[in-house]
Amino acid sequence: TEVDWDIEDARLGGFPHYMQKEIFEQPQVFYNTLQAVRESPDALDLLRGRDRLTIVACGSSYHAGLLYKYLLEMYCGVAVLVEQGSEFKYYPPPLSGTVIGISQSGETADTLAALKMAQSRGCKTVAVTNVVGSTITRMTDATIHLRAGPEMSVAATKSFIAQLAAGLGITDALTDGSHAEENTRINVRIEEILTIPITEAVGLCSSASSLFYIGRGLFYPAALEGALKMKEISYIHAEGYAAGELKHGPFALLSGETPVIAIAIPGAAYPVMLSNIKEIKARGAPVIAIGLAGDIELAELADIFIELPKAPESTAVATVSVLLQRLAYETADSLGRDIDKPRNLAKSVTVE
Ligand code: G6P
Repeated sequence: TEVDWDIEDARLGGFPHYMQKEIFEQPQVFYNTLQAVRESPDALDLLRGRDRLTIVACGSSYHAGLLYKYLLEMYCGVAVLVEQGSEFKYYPPPLSGTVIGISQSGETADTLAALKMAQSRGCKTVAVTNVVGSTITRMTDATIHLRAGPEMSVAATKSFIAQLAAGLGITDALTDGSHAEENTRINVRIEEILTIPITEAVGLCSSASSLFYIGRGLFYPAALEGALKMKEISYIHAEGYAAGELKHGPFALLSGETPVIAIAIPGAAYPVMLSNIKEIKARGAPVIAIGLAGDIELAELADIFIELPKAPESTAVATVSVLLQRLAYETADSLGRDIDKPRNLAKSVTVE
C-alpha cells in the first residue's frame, strides 16, 4: 500500500509553515511558562534583593532582555544593564551581583562566553532557556526553563513570547505577586490576536522598500523585535527605533515608500507618540498605527489602524509582539519567501 502523507506534514499539523504553527501555540506557551517561573525558586532567590542586575543575550533574546530592563526598572525599581553577548565578552562592564543569560537554544557562543566572563569576575549566573540540558543550564547557578517546546522555524516566535512570560513572572515574583492576576489573563488576550484581520497592513508592507517600527518604553524593544522578524523572513529592510530618535536622522529617509509602524498604547509616552505620528505624516510617510480598541484619535491620524483589546501596558506588550510576528509572517508569505529557513540564517549560532 502507498502512504500519501509524509512525516513533515504530520508535524506541521495542518499549518503551511512551522512559524505559523508556533505563533498559534503561543497562548499555551505563555501560560505554561508563567507556571515554570513559579517553580524556579533557586533562580528567583538569586534575583531577589538586588538593586542591580545585568543581562546578556543575542538576537531576539537580546530584545527580550531589553523588555526585562523596562519591566524590572518600572515595576521593581531594580537598575538593569542589558548587553549583547558579543560585546560583553570583550568589553565587560563593571560587574557585581547576578548576571542573567537569556538564550532560547542555550548554545549561543557569544552568550555563553559572556556568562563565563561574568563567572570569572565572581558573579552568580541565572539562565533563561528553552532547552533542558543545554550548555547554558550546565554552566549557570540556576535556570528558569521556558516551556515553549521545540521551535523549528529559524525565526524565534514562541520562544520570544516565553521569554517575555518569564520576564513578567520574574517581575511578579520580585513584587510579591502584585501582577499575578493580570498576567494570568494574557494568554486569553494573545488568543484574540491570532485572528485580527491585518490584510491591508500586509499589503502596504509587502510593497514597501523599507519600514520603520517605532515605540517607547516597553514598546521600543517590541519595535526592535518586530523589525527583526520582518527583515529575517521577508527580506524587506526594516528598522526598529525609539520613537523619539526618528527625528535624529531617519526623518531624511521618510517618503511615501517607507511606511512607519507606530505602536501607540496609552501610558506615560502616549501623548508624545501622537505628536510623533503627526510629524511622520507631515513628511509623507504612511502610518500603520497599533493601538487599543476605541482609540478614535489614533484611528483618525493613521492610514491603517490595527486595534488590540484594551489592556494595561504589560499585557499589551505581549499582544503587540504577537501582532508584529503575524505582520512579518503574512508579509513574507505574500512574497513567497522560504519562511522557516530564511537565507543565510541559522537557528543556533555556535561560533563567536
Ligand atoms: C540566532 C537565531 C535568532 C536568535 C539568536 C539567539 O541568530 O536565528 O532567532 O534570536 O540566534 O539565539 P538564542 O538561542 O541564544 O536565543
